Amino acid sequence: MALITSKEMFAKAMDKDYAIGAFNVNNMEIIQGIVEAAEMEKAPLILQVSAGARKYAKSIYLTKLVEAAIEDTGIDVCLHLDHGEDFDICKKCIDDGFTSVMIDGSKHPFEENIKITKEVVEYAHDKGVVVEAELGKLAGIEDAVNVSARDATFTVPEEAAEFVERTGVDSLAVAIGTSHGAYKFKGTPYLDFERLKKIHSLIPGTPLVLHGASTVLPEFVDLCNKYGGEIPGAQGVPEDMILEAVKHGVCKVNIDTDLRLAMTAKIRQFMVEEPAVFDPRKYLGPARDAIREMVRHKIKNVLNASGTL
Ligand code: G3H
Ligand code: 13P
Ligand code: ZN
Repeated sequence: MALITSKEMFAKAMDKDYAIGAFNVNNMEIIQGIVEAAEMEKAPLILQVSAGARKYAKSIYLTKLVEAAIEDTGIDVCLHLDHGEDFDICKKCIDDGFTSVMIDGSKHPFEENIKITKEVVEYAHDKGVVVEAELGKLAGIEDAVNVSARDATFTVPEEAAEFVERTGVDSLAVAIGTSHGAYKFKGTPYLDFERLKKIHSLIPGTPLVLHGASTVLPEFVDLCNKYGGEIPGAQGVPEDMILEAVKHGVCKVNIDTDLRLAMTAKIRQFMVEEPAVFDPRKYLGPARDAIREMVRHKIKNVLNASGTL
């Protein structure tokens, strides 16, 4: 069993209408919880490492932990760089053994985004590594309210087609109304499915990626708030919207916030209920279990709701 690219995973997912969970990892317990869930559900898995994760844990620790998880469980994992900001960081991760990288040129003008994405694609493909790019900007909570704001930030379908054609990128992250974090919508959640359908119809062979796809499970928000947390009004992407997105070309569903909430909720609860205990294993263990069960729920009810995995 090994580190693999997402190529085969995406091909199968596209064919059968399910999606791969791409989970952000920052420490051993998070990795173990996710990997246990994937093993139990026999689900394909992407583990991704952000700039924040590299700063916190160092890339080498996370890489070695992922390698250990593969050896321990016998499952295949795609190790992915999340939001790589330039060629150098993508190159470093490729050289360090990552099997997939994201070059996030979304903050640059279209032509500049094409230029840096192409550069990364050439280097990565030469080494058998796959590349995700991003076009459009993820909306902030205020952004998606009116049509002109949407047109200014969301992915333009015709540009997506041109971008994929000119860069040779393997998958494309699209902006259709999601955003990172726990506060995704102020009122009723809205995603631009007409736009997603148009993009998918123009580039049907390109796996699409949904960033900011945490559902912000009320169970964990409530638990956090009950035990001293202050995250009022947190709202994620409803599960049925993820299901709808998966029907229209979304093959990779990015999840970080839900992991953070599950872990924090369990630790908060433990700290209040067991004030005399100070062995970290006593609270990191339940946090790891909560992550495992949350990820299993996602696989069964959202990522593989079609049951075709
Ligand atoms: O894309 C955002 C992810 O949640 C990673 O965030 O850089 O704080 O680890 P981070
Ligand atoms: P969430 O904040 O919704 O978990 O999104 C994570 C993400 O997109 C990582 O790239
Ligand atoms: Zn993201």
